[in-house]
Amino acid sequence: MELYQATTTAPVNIAVIKYWGKRDAKLNLPTNSSLSVTLSQDDLRALTTASCSPTFTEDRLWLNGVEESVATSSRLTACIDNLRQLRAELEQENPSAPRLSTFKLHICSENNFPTAAGLASSAAGFAALVRAIADLYQLPQSAKDLSRIARQGSGSACRSLMGGYVSWEMGEADDGNDSLAEQVAPQSHWPEMRAAVLVVSAERKTVPSTAGMQATVATSALFRHRADVVVPERMSAMKRAIKEKDFEAFADLTMKDSNQFHAVCLDTSPPIFYLNDTSRACIRFVEELNRSAGKVIAAYTYDAGPNCVIYYTVENEEIVLGALKKCLANIDGWRERDAALAASLPEGFDSRTLDAVSQGITRLILTQVGGDPVSIAQDKGLIGQDGLPK
Ligand code: DP6
Repeated sequence: MELYQATTTAPVNIAVIKYWGKRDAKLNLPTNSSLSVTLSQDDLRALTTASCSPTFTEDRLWLNGVEESVATSSRLTACIDNLRQLRAELEQENPSAPRLSTFKLHICSENNFPTAAGLASSAAGFAALVRAIADLYQLPQSAKDLSRIARQGSGSACRSLMGGYVSWEMGEADDGNDSLAEQVAPQSHWPEMRAAVLVVSAERKTVPSTAGMQATVATSALFRHRADVVVPERMSAMKRAIKEKDFEAFADLTMKDSNQFHAVCLDTSPPIFYLNDTSRACIRFVEELNRSAGKVIAAYTYDAGPNCVIYYTVENEEIVLGALKKCLANIDGWRERDAALAASLPEGFDSRTLDAVSQGITRLILTQVGGDPVSIAQDKGLIGQDGLPK
């Protein structure tokens, strides 16, 4: 059977300046710019195969083994329509190109981390979907151009089309033409960046981010100040910190911005609580680590859920992981090379925070800054020659 396919992986990203608020919900245009670190696909990634064939009768999507409806998801159809349109333009310019834009798509996607881990998977998922279809269609558009499309799937997805340190510039245009992701620095500029994901709970988050941010925009008085004044200043300060590889400045901004994001959630009515007691214990743990170490060596950040992500650099890995071993030695996620690492705390560390951290964390993921989406050989794809998931 006549079958075309392309497979790609795309990374998870964790923001250090948070996207929270839409000025246009349909096009997913944000009220402020944001900036994230792309994490390594060795540890966290979405793997997606996009295929098309003249024999397919409808667009279909399988997510982690379960078929989802394409037609009822306006976010999915927006991405697919945009990509088809670009393919149709390419076919018009090149009459010998096969008419893939007229074929239906079968898309199959899997995460290599448990959805139950409560990690935002929509960013990696939509980025992989857009990248895979763009590759299938052999589109000449750059990652930056494609970020315009991924953004419509999920805002944060636009930042997962590039490795390293990536900003999403909010733009001004009503049609969203200038609301795009840009690489601030590649992975190779600051490869020493590490991230520890402390998984707090496998429960589904209480308020989905889309609904949460809409409520914040509508009801929070603090939010306008954040969007208009605080974030623009922090975006330039963060870009400078990354360019200069200034971890203390990076960490300071990261923690402040996470705290302010959760402050505007609290200022929403009714208030939104994403952090729980364990999250707050992790905050105290990192603050205490920095205090007792005598310098800022670690930074916490939280998205729309209780999981804690801690950024640090390889230079301080022993201190950070040594302290985590004190409370998390018995949970899943330690690597072979960490076996020899001794549990230890900096002198003067107030160990009262340790119990709450050790009781509340269920799993650890140790990872680092990573690269661009990766194109995968056809035989490793998720769709077989019959056009269905393998
Ligand atoms: C807190 O990208 O999931 O993680 O655009 O509605 O799909 P939608 O929202 P989403 O929001 C992510 C919010 C955040 C902060 C961030 O990643 O910048």
